[in-house]
Amino acid sequence: MNTTIKHLSKLNEKGNLIVLCTSEKDLTHSFSKEESTYIKSQFSLKTDLVHINRLHQHVFVLKVSDHKDQNIVKEKARISAFGVAKQLNSLKAKETSITGSVSSELLLAFGEGLALSNYQFLKYFSDKEERINSLKVIGIHGASAKEVSSISMVVDATCIARDLVNEPLSYLTAEQYSEDIKKLGKAKGFKVEVFNKSKIESLKMGGLLAVNLGSPNPPTFNIMEWKPANAVNKKPYVLVGKGVVYDTGGVSLKPTANSMDYMKCDMGGSATVVGAMSVISDAKLPIHIIGLVPATENRPGGNAYVPGDVITMHNGMTVEVLNTDAEGRMILADALSYARKYKPELVIDLATLTGAALRAIGDQGMISMGTADQSVQDELIESGYSTYERVVQFPFWDEYGEQIKSKIADIKNLGGPEAGMITAGKFLEHFTLDEKKNPAYPYIHLDIAGVAYHHSEKNYRGVEGSGVGVRLLFDFFSKKAKKK
Ligand code: BES
Ligand code: ZN
Ligand code: ZN
Repeated sequence: MNTTIKHLSKLNEKGNLIVLCTSEKDLTHSFSKEESTYIKSQFSLKTDLVHINRLHQHVFVLKVSDHKDQNIVKEKARISAFGVAKQLNSLKAKETSITGSVSSELLLAFGEGLALSNYQFLKYFSDKEERINSLKVIGIHGASAKEVSSISMVVDATCIARDLVNEPLSYLTAEQYSEDIKKLGKAKGFKVEVFNKSKIESLKMGGLLAVNLGSPNPPTFNIMEWKPANAVNKKPYVLVGKGVVYDTGGVSLKPTANSMDYMKCDMGGSATVVGAMSVISDAKLPIHIIGLVPATENRPGGNAYVPGDVITMHNGMTVEVLNTDAEGRMILADALSYARKYKPELVIDLATLTGAALRAIGDQGMISMGTADQSVQDELIESGYSTYERVVQFPFWDEYGEQIKSKIADIKNLGGPEAGMITAGKFLEHFTLDEKKNPAYPYIHLDIAGVAYHHSEKNYRGVEGSGVGVRLLFDFFSKKAKKK
C-alpha cells in the first residue's frame, strides 16, 4: 500500500484537514466568520464538499448524505473521498487528517475510500517518481486505534489483491504467483504450501492438468492456512480462488474482440483469496481458515486440451470438454474436490467465471449461489451491503443442471445459451458432493467477472484490478470471529 493510515488521539490543527459533518451547525472544527458564511452558502447551493485554502493548510468540509440507510451514507463518503484524494494530490499535499462530528464508522469509511483512491500501480513506468501521488499519510481522529488499524490492514490487503491482478503474465506465471504467495505468507503470518506439477499429477487433478496442457509453464496448486490457537471454529472455513493467470480461451480462442486484452484479470478470484488470507492473519482473527488456489495459464499450445476431450477429474468424475474457454470450472472443480479432506464448516469460491455474470448485472456487484443455509448466504449478502461489495443471490435450482448432461461422460463443461453463470455454478456443485452424492460441505459460489476489473477509473475502486471481495470477506469473517 502506498498510503499510511494512522490513528490520531489528538488532532493536528496545523495540517490539512477533512471535516465531516451532517450540517453546518455541527462542525467541530473552528472556522472564522467568513469561512462559516462561505460554508453555509455553499451547502445551501447543494455543494456538499467545500474547499477552504488557508495557504498554509487545506481544509475540506464534507456534508455527509442524510440517507436513512447507513450503508449508503458510508458508500457516499467513500465516493466523496475519491474526489478529495484527486484534489489533495493535485495540491501536492503530503498528509491529511480526517475528523468530524459523525460516527466513527463514517470517518473510517471516508478514510478507507481516500486510501483506496490513492492506490497506484506504477511498477512498469520508467518515470514513476514523477507520477507518484504526493499524499502519503492519512490520520483518522474520532475512531478507536483498533478500528483504524483494521481499516489500514484491509486496505493494504485490497491493494495486495489489486497488485496481483494488475501484474501481467510476463511477470505473473503460476510459479511466480506461488513465490509471491510464499513471500506474503511470511510477511503476514499464514502458512503456505505449494504443490508442483508432479505433485498435482500424483493427486490426479485432471482438470488443472488439462487446462495447463497448452502452456509452456507448469501449473501450481497453492494452499494457505491460518490456524490460530484461539480459533472459534472447529471445522475450518475454506476459500477457493480461480487462478487462471491468463485466459486466451485455449483452442476455443476467445471470440469477442479485445476481450483478451484484460484476461490477466482471470486470477482475480484467487487474488481476493490471497488478500483475504493476508488481512485475516494480519488482524489475527480467531478463526481457522484455509485458502486454495489452483493456478495456470489457459493457452492453445501444441498439446492443448481440445473440444471433445474427456477428462477424469480429481474426484474421479469424467467431464466432456466442449469449450476450452470454460476452463475456470475445470480447475476450480479439482480444488473444490480437494477441499473435502478438510471437512469444512463452509467453502466459498471466488472466480471471474462467466461473461454471463457480467452481462446480467454489470459492474455493480457479484453474483452468489450455493447450497449453504440461507442464513449463511444472507450473512454474506449483509456484509456485501456493509462494505458495498454487493452480492446478489441467483437461483441454484437443479433444473439448470440438466444443461450440462453429456452424451459420453458424467457431465460436460458447457451449458446452453441461457443462465451461463448458473450452469457454471451447477457444474462446480458436483465437486462439492461426497461419494454418495450428498453435499460434503455447505457451499457458496461467487462469480466476480463483472467487478474484478474496471476499464476506467470511476471511483475509489480504481482502474484495472479492483481487489473486490477482500473487504467483503474480512467483514464476513470478522463477524464470524465475534459470533461463536
Ligand atoms: N475468464 C472468462 C470469463 C470472464 C469474462 C472473466 C469476462 C472476466 C470478464 C471465462 O473463462 C470464460 O471464458 N467463460 C466463458 C464460458 C463459456 C465458454 C461457457 C464465457 O463466459 O463466455
Ligand atoms: Zn475462459
Ligand atoms: Zn477464464
